[in-house]
Amino acid sequence: MRRQARTTVPFREIVELACRAPSVHNTQPWRWRAEGSRLRLYADRSRQLLHADPDARSLVLSCGAALHHAQVAAAGLGWQVTVERCPDADDPDLLATLELAPGRVVPAAEARLGALQARSTDRRRFTSWPLPAERLDRLSEQAEEWGALVIPLVDPGRRVRVDRILRRAAEIQRGDQLYAAEAAPWVRAEGPEGVPATSIPEPNPHRPAMPSRYDQGELPDPRGEPAEFVDGLVAVATVDDDRLSWLRAGETLSALWLAAIPHGLSVLPLSQVAEVPQTREELREVLDGRAWPQLLVRLGWQEITREELPRTPRRPVAEVLTLE
Ligand SMILES: Cc1cc2nc3c(=O)[nH]c(=O)nc-3n(C[C@H](O)[C@H](O)[C@H](O)COP(=O)(O)O)c2cc1C
Repeated sequence: MRRQARTTVPFREIVELACRAPSVHNTQPWRWRAEGSRLRLYADRSRQLLHADPDARSLVLSCGAALHHAQVAAAGLGWQVTVERCPDADDPDLLATLELAPGRVVPAAEARLGALQARSTDRRRFTSWPLPAERLDRLSEQAEEWGALVIPLVDPGRRVRVDRILRRAAEIQRGDQLYAAEAAPWVRAEGPEGVPATSIPEPNPHRPAMPSRYDQGELPDPRGEPAEFVDGLVAVATVDDDRLSWLRAGETLSALWLAAIPHGLSVLPLSQVAEVPQTREELREVLDGRAWPQLLVRLGWQEITREELPRTPRRPVAEVLTLE
């Protein structure tokens, strides 16, 4: 008997997988609308961090990561996708339209879907295994196919400058009461959104601080000793600084992350430098003024004996997807 090709798009499944994407503070700032063979992605402005993210840059970046996840999910389930980004100048919240057509599953797409399902943000200290510059270059080049620049920061002089800028951004935000008040509901959150306590390192007075948004320390690790941090650092940047560039930067972040997973690498986005105007400008200077920094990203290896972290929660699909 010949197998009937699937003609009904599995929107729920695709959107459920797309929503596993990373988002700033796990705000999940997206809405989806499905109609016929078309899926639309909208920015959900009610989830914007108005103080830390007044231009909705991190919001659109997060939606870009979800857009890339949706494409990976659809391809992994055997659907061809055609994407139109920012299709309606009169509707700035409509970020993308995805047109789906039956296709077939190829092994590379299946593998990418496996990486999507394995992905999470792991803030534990990386091991001291150095990340070879050639590997960082290859991953960066692969990710750049998604439209943003991925600039490895390997030169020690640049690296020191960027680490200083990172610390300064963290300090500035620590002294900003409005920032703290806005972040509070999303940090150590319970329920289907925000960052749960199990994903946040506790402060460790015996170790030098690794600049991070969520304190600076260790997550419990019953099997392994904490290791020194030697990692790869890249800047995701764009030539322009508009909605389309932010969307592309989010897709590029997701592509970088999923490409890193088969190498066993952990990936940590750091958005603080880009959130503080002064440090964003400083980082732009480090990039020789040639591009707008959107995010810094650390890559490194975790101890192989480490246990899996509990996954951060997601809102139910029915809350974010409208089927028409
Ligand atoms: C645009 C963007 C910015 C982020 N910034 C940070 C950050 O500065 N520090 C951090 O620890 N995690 C950051 N994250 C990771 C999110 O906190 C994480 O994706 C979210 O909590 C969901 O958890 P998961 O990635 O494990 O699914 C960022 C993610 C995105 C997409």
